[in-house]
Amino acid sequence: MALNIIILAAGQGSRMDSDRPKVLHELGGAPLLVHAMKAGGALSPDAMVVVVGVGAPDVTAAALDWNPDAQVVSQAEQLGTGHAVRQAQSALAGAPGDTLVLYGDTPFLTAETLQAMLDARARHAVVVLGFRPADPGRYGRLVMAGDMLERIVEFKDADPATRTIGLCNSGVVACDTALLFDLLADVTRANVADEYYLTDIVGLARARGLPAGVVECPEDQTLGINTRAELSSAQALLQARMRADAQADGVTLIAPDTVHFAHDTVIGRDAVVEPNVVFGPGVTVESGARIRSFSHLEGCHVSRGAIVGPFARLRPGAELAEDVHVGNFVEVKNAIIAEGAKVNHLSYIGDADIGERTNIGAGTITCNYDGVFKHRTVIGKGAFIGSNTMLVAPVTVGNRAMTATGAVITQDVPDGALAIARVRQENRPGLAVKFMDRLRALKAARKGG
Ligand code: UD1
Ligand code: MG
Repeated sequence: MALNIIILAAGQGSRMDSDRPKVLHELGGAPLLVHAMKAGGALSPDAMVVVVGVGAPDVTAAALDWNPDAQVVSQAEQLGTGHAVRQAQSALAGAPGDTLVLYGDTPFLTAETLQAMLDARARHAVVVLGFRPADPGRYGRLVMAGDMLERIVEFKDADPATRTIGLCNSGVVACDTALLFDLLADVTRANVADEYYLTDIVGLARARGLPAGVVECPEDQTLGINTRAELSSAQALLQARMRADAQADGVTLIAPDTVHFAHDTVIGRDAVVEPNVVFGPGVTVESGARIRSFSHLEGCHVSRGAIVGPFARLRPGAELAEDVHVGNFVEVKNAIIAEGAKVNHLSYIGDADIGERTNIGAGTITCNYDGVFKHRTVIGKGAFIGSNTMLVAPVTVGNRAMTATGAVITQDVPDGALAIARVRQENRPGLAVKFMDRLRALKAARKGG
């Protein structure tokens, strides 16, 4: 059946006490909004509509960055969740099938839970995702009559008896698309908050004799982020899940609690991650690679058998082929390092292609930036770059070529050539002793005076 997803992301999130809209605060290297979009996207919807309001330009950019096909609609004034959903009506005009409403600040919903809601639509016109929190607090309460959901009562509007109900509203709703907007047209602001409540569609559906039901999920899936403290708890939860998943997938984590993953980190079987490694977004590590301690990786690919670190930094566009070694205090950015090449010590490799089995000596720098433009360094196969070589890009070093230690390479080096680009050494016999004696005499004379 056709499926549309609406994600509500217009609110301020004032309890974050931030200039940044709440849904743009990051969890595992991605905005909260992206987590909600990922959860919904896993169901392959036909349309995804994001409702933006506070911080609209930035929230829009983040939504489209993750899913360029998303439609963004704006809610100029935040008049409630029902009003927010109504803003998506024209974007979904005539759209067939069901619509699932998610919140942009609720990152842990699983595709299985959402699928269970869509399955439950076979029995109910409106399906609400419920949960039983340890502390029901100020959540909306789900009023049941047997298996039938009769209505949702917001905490603010609830009488003491209703407040004792433990089954709460997560906010996620599934409904036939046309029916959803039809019911919303009847929603009023007659409540304590003077808002259009999305939750009122349940009572309205029941008044029309339509069945409504609940799918329950564990509390941790409906965890919404409202404060910095909740955000950090969510980080801990995400990390715990990622660590458990990695180990279940055959990855060795020597000290799991010290490894930080991004939401999309992919690590192959039998890879080893040593203590204190940080993965930013967009990292894939293949089977059997080893990431040694204190390395920081983002937007990069590490192939089978490669060794990274300790203390290495792989930045976006770093592509390490099989059996590449990148050692301590080496930074690699936007560079392709071919099979078996080694960059073992104290180097910066940026905007470069390094050929197979080439060895880059300690202290090598690709001088890629002239202050305005970035330029590329291309090094062939089996080359040997001497220690402390400066490669002033754009420059090409050929296959099996060498650069002498301390070279400043400003011209291309042909295949097989040795480039020497430094001042020739000159030895002056006895001059060191003479020089030091003179300085010591000078010091003694000053003390005496
Ligand atoms: C809502 C539910 C409540 C439920 C709780 C779960 C309603 C009326 N109440 O309450 O039953 O237990 O979520 O967390 O739906 N938003 C907009 N535009 C608006 C208002 C809200 O986009 O005009 C967005 C917010 O950014 C947020 C989401 O909708 O992502 C929920 O809004 P929020 O104000 O947090 O609703 P609650 O009062 O928590
Ligand atoms: Mg809320």
